[in-house]
Amino acid sequence: MKLDRALEEKIKQKAEEVLIKCRPNWDLPHTQAAVYWMKQLIEHEGGDERILIPAIYLHDIGYYDLIGPGYTYQQLRQIKPKHMIKGEKLARQILNDLPLSEKEVKEITHLVRIHDDIPKIESFNEQMVFEADCLGMIDREKAGVGSLAKESVGDFLQSFKKRRMPKLKSKLARGKVKEFFEKEKNEIDKSTPIMV
Ligand SMILES: [Fe+2]
Ligand SMILES: [Fe+2]
Repeated sequence: MKLDRALEEKIKQKAEEVLIKCRPNWDLPHTQAAVYWMKQLIEHEGGDERILIPAIYLHDIGYYDLIGPGYTYQQLRQIKPKHMIKGEKLARQILNDLPLSEKEVKEITHLVRIHDDIPKIESFNEQMVFEADCLGMIDREKAGVGSLAKESVGDFLQSFKKRRMPKLKSKLARGKVKEFFEKEKNEIDKSTPIMV
């Protein structure tokens, strides 16, 4: 189903109010990049806009108040489960005030709750959110450089390659992620100790 512009604007506004207070220089541009890629994925793969677009706007709002600037990849891994639990709660609060059915709210909040639990990604909707999230992480032109400590960028890339890349299914995501990943790998500071 199509998501009407006015409803998308409301969700975007509510999400961005929180995202601006999440990981500095990251959650807002990363989410904007992920939304861009979600729309591209829907064009190629199909899918319900009323579920997938709100889910991608809201997927990382749970980072609110969880982590400051210059965090390491290790610290990030530790708080990952928390950002999904908190995100589900915050997303429900936002969505309950909007003209969406209970069934739609349930599916969107489920997607927020599961999006980073990679072994559990199975359904079409879960896969779409996962792929848009991956693209929004690795497309540094849109997402920027973020606030991960510089020495942890190698760890991030290593984990991205091992945990995320093999799970990508769509032709669009597989092709684009590969392209962005190579670019990112080439730009990384040569002194970074861990390379992929
Ligand atoms: Fe996330
Ligand atoms: Fe994300």
